[in-house]
Amino acid sequence: MTQTNEAGLTPAKVWDLPVRICHWGFVVLLPILWWTAENTEMRWHMRAGTLLLALVLFRILWGFVGSSTARFGRFLKGPVTVANYLRRLRSKTASVLGHNPAGGWSAVILLTLLLAQTTSGLFAGDPYDGATGPLNDKVGAMRAGDLTDWHELGFDIILALVALHLVAIAFYRFALKEKLVSAMVTGKRAAAPESGEMAPVPAARAVICALIAGGIALWAYNGAPPF
Ligand code: HEM
Repeated sequence: MTQTNEAGLTPAKVWDLPVRICHWGFVVLLPILWWTAENTEMRWHMRAGTLLLALVLFRILWGFVGSSTARFGRFLKGPVTVANYLRRLRSKTASVLGHNPAGGWSAVILLTLLLAQTTSGLFAGDPYDGATGPLNDKVGAMRAGDLTDWHELGFDIILALVALHLVAIAFYRFALKEKLVSAMVTGKRAAAPESGEMAPVPAARAVICALIAGGIALWAYNGAPPF
């Protein structure tokens, strides 16, 4: 029998395993990437960056073919819906299963920045001074220089957005009493019965997405050799 708490909420599946693995992978890899860059451990920086690229590519593919709450088409809403949601934020209870209209856009912005960051890293560096990304020689020195500048600035932008991300999560926790972090850990959260449940998809899809994402990342790491 389903358990209902005093607020009329029941435990519901919200995030599948692939979404959670990607998310906590980002959390672990970001400090590793920062530390390896600061300490010029560039071989490890590039290995960790390749893993991050594979996770981001996987998450993007999963946003098209993954379970219902992972899909961009389901959680990306137009500006009017986002504005209405933000206006009514304070009166909200735990009624949105998955990303709310504002959180959905912040997820896509973070993923886009992570993609730009990992991709620019592939081309970054100066062959006459220090390490270079595996695709550095595929672009001219000027373009590689621009991409290196972006790669350095991009990290600061990502850090600023992660800080905002954490402030938003703390706001939900303390002002709205919504425990988003435990949902990202366990995959479950308390939801109104009418919110429904996450609709899963066959695990084979995750395997196919992982093979594609991992294959592209490894191919780039190896200097994009011709087939
Ligand atoms: C300890 C630090 C962090 C915590 C506690 C945390 C927590 C969360 C939570 C609870 C959600 C779900 C929000 C919702 O219900 O809509 C989420 C989503 C997300 N977070 Fe974080 N986060 C952290 C760090 C990061 C970092 C470092 C990144 C990457 C730069 C990141 C990127 C994302 C993305 C892309 C999503 C969307 C997930 C998806 O749809 O796949 N987070 N985070």
